[in-house]
Amino acid sequence: MGCANKDNLPKSYPMVGGDGTQSYAQNSSYQNIIEAVELKLIQLAEHQDPSALEFQVFFSDQYDNDFNTLFKTLPHSRRYFAAGVPGSFYGRLFPKSCLHFVHSCYALHWLSKVPEEIVDRNSPSWNSDSIHCTGSVKGVAEAYSARFRNDVEAFLNARTQEVVPGGLIVILILAVPDGIPFPKTAAGVLYDVFGSCLIDMAKMGLISEEKVYSFNLPIYHATPKELETLIQRNKYFSIERMEELNHPMRNTPFTAEDYTSNLRPVFEEIIKDHFGNEYVNQIFHNYTIKIAENLSIIEEKTNDIIDLFILLKRIISTD
Ligand SMILES: C[S@@+](CC[C@H](N)C(=O)[O-])C[C@H]1O[C@@H](n2cnc3c(N)ncnc32)[C@H](O)[C@@H]1O
Repeated sequence: MGCANKDNLPKSYPMVGGDGTQSYAQNSSYQNIIEAVELKLIQLAEHQDPSALEFQVFFSDQYDNDFNTLFKTLPHSRRYFAAGVPGSFYGRLFPKSCLHFVHSCYALHWLSKVPEEIVDRNSPSWNSDSIHCTGSVKGVAEAYSARFRNDVEAFLNARTQEVVPGGLIVILILAVPDGIPFPKTAAGVLYDVFGSCLIDMAKMGLISEEKVYSFNLPIYHATPKELETLIQRNKYFSIERMEELNHPMRNTPFTAEDYTSNLRPVFEEIIKDHFGNEYVNQIFHNYTIKIAENLSIIEEKTNDIIDLFILLKRIISTD
């Protein structure tokens, strides 16, 4: 086998790696699922000899993900075999019918790519100076939701092949409450503030205006209703549960610095990739200042995006 050329790989937006203060690992506390798997193992062990149970956990993420830090932080006394699987979940990652349980955590709102028409100045769907799906331009909203529709379809098609009949998929995803436009949520305001920071910097001549106009987040927050409709188009999974989770940190008061600490590990690589490494500190510094100026508006937004829990079961089909 020859070496893969990195330029041929699909675009990916990894989180900040390592375990430094601005790393994703140091700024995410809600991802301990391992305890849930252990709990399940204990429940199962009521009926079976626990020593006979063996688990294999595949950690999958894009090729650029910092798998080294992930592997180094796995507990030594873990009760499962661990392996890493690089690649996009919008395609096949595993052989047919080999997965019993899939857990997709805060990832499916990342699109496979930014819709092309929204960065095309000649298109009626051009997103001009906005950096996300505000919904104010109809064509932009349609382009984002069409991309999301195709992506979810690809995700489910791939899992249809990989998950055993009766197998489960848990999806945790950031969603917009039904009936609330995304810009009216606190997250929508945070994205707007981020976009306005970039525009200010372009006006000051610190970054190129063209770069700002061509920057869009490859993120789409669907509503629960939208997700339900998309999942139902795939005939191989039934929706067993879909409910809003009560995030323990949802009502925690955040300082401007907290907002930056949450956002930076997620957006840093994408900013670096688009604007260049030399602008990253300045952009996030300005963001903190702007957030501090807008803190009261953000806090007023009681309609935040929600943590949506979806449990799917692979239908035992006859074909
Ligand atoms: C906010 S992080 C969540 C990471 C982890 N699941 C957790 O809960 O801590 C989003 C992750 O989704 C990954 N991601 C985004 N698009 C992806 C894709 N198409 N295929 C695989 N991973 C993807 C990113 O690389 C990133 O690690």
